[in-house]
Amino acid sequence: MKTKKLLVLTGGGDCPGLNAVIRGIVKSAHSNGNWEVYGSIEAFNGIIKEKTEIVKLTPSKVSGIHVRGGTIIKTTNKGNPLSFPTQSKSGKITYTDISDKLVKKIKKLGFDAVINIGGDGSQAISQALYKKGLPIIGVPKTIDNDLSSTDVTFGFTTAVQIATDAFDKLVTTAHSHNRVMIMEVMGRDAGWIALHTAIAGGAEICLIPEIPFKLDVVISEIKKRYRNGKGFVNIVIAEGAKMGGKIIGKKAEGDQNIKLGGVGLQLRKALEDQGLEPQVRVTTLGHIQRGGTPVAFDRILATAFGVRAFEMAEKGKYGRMVTYVNNKVSDTTLSKAIKEYNFVKKSHYLINTAKKIGVSFGN
Ligand code: F6P
Repeated sequence: MKTKKLLVLTGGGDCPGLNAVIRGIVKSAHSNGNWEVYGSIEAFNGIIKEKTEIVKLTPSKVSGIHVRGGTIIKTTNKGNPLSFPTQSKSGKITYTDISDKLVKKIKKLGFDAVINIGGDGSQAISQALYKKGLPIIGVPKTIDNDLSSTDVTFGFTTAVQIATDAFDKLVTTAHSHNRVMIMEVMGRDAGWIALHTAIAGGAEICLIPEIPFKLDVVISEIKKRYRNGKGFVNIVIAEGAKMGGKIIGKKAEGDQNIKLGGVGLQLRKALEDQGLEPQVRVTTLGHIQRGGTPVAFDRILATAFGVRAFEMAEKGKYGRMVTYVNNKVSDTTLSKAIKEYNFVKKSHYLINTAKKIGVSFGN
């Protein structure tokens, strides 16, 4: 029987667990015995480049990588084949759709299937390439937990753990100095990391994009705590929370999305401008939330995702994305998977949980 060739790539921002997915794919392909697995370096860029950058992924190459953060085949958020940046001699960047060329090249290189491990942006690319005839399977990844067709993705639990560990440290120093501590966490337009951290860490105030907050409510919550003799306040704020209805961040040339960040600092300034008495300090956690070794749950989920993705390739189930729904690994169509963004709904049970233990959403 002719040996089949599988191409694996990781796209978008990295996330703890990517290596465990790659290992799951490679090991299950090896036990099938009829597939060879290759990795495209830096998402599709490894294929797009004139001199391709493709590495053969063998069991020995992936041995032990499930405990490592990042991705051994690298990633980028600047290689969208539907709008690919090219720089002219004068330095001007133009964007062209090179997807037809890419699909042709992947087929010419003899690949029978592609597994694209990435977030919503990457899976929208998977769907577009699938429509152009590429036999592709998606594996969801994001620390933000913003994909609606899966209950959770690997990376999220690790990010929440990292944020909670940092928050715990801020609580003790807030206590010593009677300060107001603001911790800004990632999550893009969803407040999942902030909400989970607020409950796990015991925040007094949790500010998320889905629940617009009012500065005067935040101030009165802080004052109430000081009046009640609890002389410190810990606030967790999601990077996508809006200050006076405005998203805080900037869009640089070539970026697909606004780079969020800075709302914690803006909140501090606003509190100080209002003459708040206690000192306010801000910690922006940033990419620490995406780095390092994945927690056990994420390693397990990522491995199960990798195994499932390979099984889908074996069965020829293309145009679909792996999911985790009601404690079961399953799959759904890519078109359904990218339809809706997973915002925190006000009716979510964790909003109620947080409120009942006294967390204020500043609204
Ligand atoms: O989507 C993951 C994420 O870490 C977001 O939480 C954050 O807004 C963004 O990526 C940061 O992107 P970059 O690594 O490009 O700065």
